[in-house]
Amino acid sequence: MTLENIQIVTQLEAILGANNVLSENSEMVPFISEPRKRFHETAQAVVMPRSIADLQTLVRWANNHKIPLIPQGGNTGMVGGQVPLLGQEIIVNMGRLNKVRQVDADGGHMIVEAGLILEHAHGVALQNNMLFPLTIASKGSAQIGGVLSTNAGGTQVLAYGNARALCLGVEAVLPDGSLYQGLNGLKKNNTGYDLSNLLVGAEGTLGFITAASLKLFPKPSHYETAWINVASPQIGLRLLSLMQEMAGNYLTAFELMPRFGIDMQLKHTMIARDPSESLSPWYVMAEMSLTKGRENIMQRCLEEAFGNKLIEDAIIASTLGHRELMWATREQMSASQSREGASIKHDVSVPISKVPELIERGCAVAEKLIPGIRPCPFGHMGDGNIHFNFSQPQGADPVAFMASAQPLHDAIYEIIADMGGSISAEHGIGQLKVDLLAQTKDPVALTMMGKIKHALDPNNICNPGKILAISKQD
Ligand code: MLT
Ligand code: ZN
Repeated sequence: MTLENIQIVTQLEAILGANNVLSENSEMVPFISEPRKRFHETAQAVVMPRSIADLQTLVRWANNHKIPLIPQGGNTGMVGGQVPLLGQEIIVNMGRLNKVRQVDADGGHMIVEAGLILEHAHGVALQNNMLFPLTIASKGSAQIGGVLSTNAGGTQVLAYGNARALCLGVEAVLPDGSLYQGLNGLKKNNTGYDLSNLLVGAEGTLGFITAASLKLFPKPSHYETAWINVASPQIGLRLLSLMQEMAGNYLTAFELMPRFGIDMQLKHTMIARDPSESLSPWYVMAEMSLTKGRENIMQRCLEEAFGNKLIEDAIIASTLGHRELMWATREQMSASQSREGASIKHDVSVPISKVPELIERGCAVAEKLIPGIRPCPFGHMGDGNIHFNFSQPQGADPVAFMASAQPLHDAIYEIIADMGGSISAEHGIGQLKVDLLAQTKDPVALTMMGKIKHALDPNNICNPGKILAISKQD
């Protein structure tokens, strides 16, 4: 039996309470509109369960009626995974399931619920003299459930790994409403399939992550942060090797940026001043996270790099304010592009050693396809993930520029395939890259993914059409 929207809303209110259900278009806007402004479908309703038991009842009901659900965290996703595709979905916002259940500093983990904001998770760790290292520009609104569901990366991956590496296990409501209890504080656990890891990075297509056991690390006692002029990405790569050799895992961030990104931020007064010492076509922002007694490691690395004639100018942040300026400049790199009109983006990764070649080949092909295009490749050089973004030529028509994007996408993804890279490094597949995934992923892997999805979610109610296209049988 197909339910009408009015019946759906009435039943949702009965299950969750009227205060936890929104169905007016105006109320749903903040949950439907997303950061890229690329996806515009509406939803049947937005609901905000207050307990895991309520969420289970909701999912059971949706499964019985074959009504699609979308798990949503802070709505910061970049590929449309957290917003509707069909216009028929119910958005399940997880923000109210945000408790901290347990902190075990000695054991090196904490158990928190999916709706906890990432920055709050950082705060909980710090209050316990520990560090939860995963950080991304949207940390003030991104939630743990979304961070795990997209297997987010961010700026500390070279030392600590991505969301998957930082999660010991999850609890999740599966598409039939049952509760998978995979929370644990174990560093070693060889008891069959790694089901938690299947749910991490599944973008809500296999169920709802409701809580997670997250790894904690000793809190660094201080940071040494530098803004370093590098003549080219190739020099950046050599500097990375030097720093890793000298500092090992104390090197926790190594971010590459073109001068263009800084000029844009100055032009649009997004930063009060230039964090760099002098002009350079490229910069690296590097950071060491250090424990007591370990001092001046950045200084020594830079001296070595100066001595080798690898670099000519650099500055180490001498105040908290300068460090914050460096981080703000880095984190606003993507936002600054939207002030310059339209931009074409690619979240890609290649083996670290191939980053310079990727940038060189990608810029050359872009300039050939769209003369005057302004490349802004930046990001996580330390783990091989470059945000290969391009701003429109100055004065160009943004709509016409975006309409010309496909040949550039094709060219970049061809280079990525040629270099053994990935079409999605840390933002996920969502609805944006479903076709691209189908074209580029190993067919055997795609078949396995489809079988897993069908086994766990035969009615395709959990975030349908995300990662995997909706097949005719669905
Ligand atoms: C970043 O590293 O700044 C983000 O992942 C890029 C983005 O938001 O586009
Ligand atoms: Zn990034």
